[in-house]
Amino acid sequence: MAKVARQVVEQAGIDVNVLLDKLLRAAGAEFTTFYYYTILRVNSIGFDGEGLKEIIEDARIEDRNHFEALTPRIYELGGALPRDIRQFADIAGCPDAYLPADPRNMSAMLAVLVEAERCAVRTYTDICNMTFGKDHRTYDLALAILHEEIEHEAWFSEYLSEGPSGHFRRGSPGTSPYVRRFMSAEIG
Ligand SMILES: [Fe+2]
Repeated sequence: MAKVARQVVEQAGIDVNVLLDKLLRAAGAEFTTFYYYTILRVNSIGFDGEGLKEIIEDARIEDRNHFEALTPRIYELGGALPRDIRQFADIAGCPDAYLPADPRNMSAMLAVLVEAERCAVRTYTDICNMTFGKDHRTYDLALAILHEEIEHEAWFSEYLSEGPSGHFRRGSPGTSPYVRRFMSAEIG
């Protein structure tokens, strides 16, 4: 762990154990959402589903990227991922994005997708609020993730005809325009 990096965050008035709990729950939600979105994407078929497929893929890969970008910060601050993946899924900070009972019902699919993104927007807003002006590195990372989660919400919301997102499309799936600078792995 980065001893002084943790110390300066504590000295700024942050309870690092509380922050670590939030980061772990956020990472758990990214990891489980990546898994569930895989199932949602493969079921996104037919006239209604085909158009959705690409943005589910964008959100799916970017959620994996969010997990990857969060992990080093958890260890720097003295935390660790749970040894058992079942435990990790249990502490995920957002509900399971289950495939709807009728997988051909794209409105039900969209409800699951948009709720998952709204939970993520709340999660990273909370982490930004907690770290703003105190833990610069976590703030910068959480803000980068928040930018992408807000875009995901807007895309799905647009599909629900709640109004235009104002966005076009990613050049290739899951390019993470904001988070990629925090990643060590190669991406798109
Ligand atoms: Fe995410």
